[in-house]
Amino acid sequence: MPNGTGNAMKRMKYGDYIIGTKTDKQMNGMTAAWVTQVSSNPRLVSVAVGRTHYTCEMIAEAGCFSVNMLRPDQVKLARKCGFGTGKDKDRLEGLEILYKETGAPILADCAAYLDCKLYKSFEIGDHIVFIGEVVDMGDTGAELMVHDNEVFFGK
Ligand SMILES: Cc1cc2nc3c(=O)[nH]c(=O)nc-3n(C[C@H](O)[C@H](O)[C@H](O)COP(=O)(O)O)c2cc1C
Repeated sequence: MPNGTGNAMKRMKYGDYIIGTKTDKQMNGMTAAWVTQVSSNPRLVSVAVGRTHYTCEMIAEAGCFSVNMLRPDQVKLARKCGFGTGKDKDRLEGLEILYKETGAPILADCAAYLDCKLYKSFEIGDHIVFIGEVVDMGDTGAELMVHDNEVFFGK
């Protein structure tokens, strides 16, 4: 029986994704675990982004974002895009980038992607939830990274 110790929220299951954004000024990739489908018709997904993250400004300005699904061997990239900020530096530099329907940057080397048009956003707690309509997607069929809090943030 659950005994009231530990932090059950840290054990909730997620994947790890790179949220890709691009404005006239710059491109950015931000690692996110809090991503999920929220509607099937229309096809909508949500991502919760910390209010202070540069990605909030970028999604609001660009009106689109991509969800790049990582493979288990892409932990290094998840770390690179998961700490500090991408403001004024391009954390996706050197990676092959593809553009599909919306113009949001899509990683050529990922397991699968969703290309999303911004559908709605709302402020909730210390995050902004961006809802994206999936207008294009692609899949390699490769295994997906499963988020493990300890790998990135320790015990
Ligand atoms: C594995 C992992 C998962 C993360 N998940 C989220 C998330 O779901 N939402 C979020 O706002 N930040 C998340 N972060 C933190 C952001 O990726 C990090 O603060 C990022 O550097 C913000 O970049 P930006 O300021 O360029 O937007 C996560 C970090 C890691 C390492």
